[in-house]
Amino acid sequence: MAEAVRDRWSNKATFIFAAIGSAIGLGNVWRFPYLVQEYGGGAFLIPYLVCVVLFGIPWLMMEFGMGRYFQKGAPGVFEGIGKKWEWLGWWPATVAFLIVGYYAVILAWSLRFVISSVTMEWGTGRAGAEAANGFFYDTILQLSSGLGDFGSIMWLTVVCLLLVWAVMFFSIYRGAEASGKWHILFVILPWILLVAVTVRGMTLPGAMEGLNSYLSPDFSQLTNPDVWFGAASQVAFSLSVGMAGMFAYGSWVAKKADITNSTVIASFGDLGTAFLSGFAVFSVVGFLVQGLNIPMSDVSTNSLGLAFVTYPAAVSMMPGGNAIVGILFFLSLFTIGVDSAFFLAHGGVIAPLTDKFGWSVKKTTFWVCVVGFLTSLLYCTQAGLYWLDIVDRSVSFYGLIITGLLATLVIGWKFGADKLRLHLNSTSDIKVGPWWNWLLKLVVPLGLLFCVIYGGFVQDLAYLWDSSKTEYGGYGLGSLWIWGILLITLLISIGLSLLKSRKKGDK
Ligand code: PHE
Repeated sequence: MAEAVRDRWSNKATFIFAAIGSAIGLGNVWRFPYLVQEYGGGAFLIPYLVCVVLFGIPWLMMEFGMGRYFQKGAPGVFEGIGKKWEWLGWWPATVAFLIVGYYAVILAWSLRFVISSVTMEWGTGRAGAEAANGFFYDTILQLSSGLGDFGSIMWLTVVCLLLVWAVMFFSIYRGAEASGKWHILFVILPWILLVAVTVRGMTLPGAMEGLNSYLSPDFSQLTNPDVWFGAASQVAFSLSVGMAGMFAYGSWVAKKADITNSTVIASFGDLGTAFLSGFAVFSVVGFLVQGLNIPMSDVSTNSLGLAFVTYPAAVSMMPGGNAIVGILFFLSLFTIGVDSAFFLAHGGVIAPLTDKFGWSVKKTTFWVCVVGFLTSLLYCTQAGLYWLDIVDRSVSFYGLIITGLLATLVIGWKFGADKLRLHLNSTSDIKVGPWWNWLLKLVVPLGLLFCVIYGGFVQDLAYLWDSSKTEYGGYGLGSLWIWGILLITLLISIGLSLLKSRKKGDK
């Protein structure tokens, strides 16, 4: 039987590190601190904690628990509930494949910046700070005029990208048990690097002003729905749920091992890392705005703008050791993100394929990495950033939320929240009470419904009834790709679910 030979985490600690490693990623560094600053400073921790406890943790427990119950990745779990649901496991798997395609490129840009930091290629002092924006958009990306203008391929990025996919391949091709040490490495290393960068940041002039702007609380924000949308959507993205992979990660937990306690530890490990990252980010941002004597609103404090423009600018301004701080910061970005990437590939794509078709992990990993690398090339063209933006909106926002909504409904109501709860409790340190059923059956789906309507449809379709609004990102008809890509992932998933499966051992 396939079950007898199922891969396993070597122990509880490895499982927890694997879970933390897949959860912590770029979002912890470049989105969480920004949300805190934007939405009420320290007060934002209240909605965030509420969302972690009532929304994120039950959802993550569900994915781990279902994976272990059926001993399969996402598609096998839904097939176990009923053959007609199998596509619902392939959908987030397909979404995960598209995400890892561009996530890997962002990691490649980080590596590219590690190299550029050695010589401080964009310059030092005020001149370097002023050149940082142009360095990213005009030198590294050579951004073209729009979606259809692909220009040429950025070869240095491609070289870095190859390295990213190679690290991913070597971390996962021998399966879950053997990947344990990589998970531990890629959690501990970014922690050390982030602490080092934070210590440097905190000793710079202006750091305290930066931290004030990060954390000074504004409780009036708690009634703003944007704040709740920000918290819920960030919790979902940060815990890496709704991406298929956590089902597989749960399926590798030993039959008698704890799940609930590990889920809680992993979720708070993720939050703690995000909170710490805020110190690394805002101490340095505070230093930059003081050094340039400009208002905080003039610099980008989230996403690519933070990582690849604001941070390099601040590094230029540092009184000494610029190159070292640059190298440490970009290495921390790479190491914090790379295990999220191989989580997407391994748990999200490779495990479902090996489960269904009985292929070897090694061969499947090789081919997923090759095809993944090829899809990544799209983002190495001069139009790459535009496509990244569109695909990101399509899959990591709509894909994650819609597939998560359907999954929680089918599992909570059809499979049965109570049955899952009893399965979790049968081996877990922390027992969850019947109230947990209602979190899964109502709170999580309603939270997701709110996110997809309030932060999704209302934003992206407002131009249909309000002529003062534009379509997503100002892309015109190009924004239709958001829906087109989503539809394609759905069709692929239905197609995969219709293929005949092959059990291990069949020839
Ligand atoms: N949780 C990761 C982050 O915070 C992002 C991610 C989402 C990774 C989904 C894998 C799957 O960056």
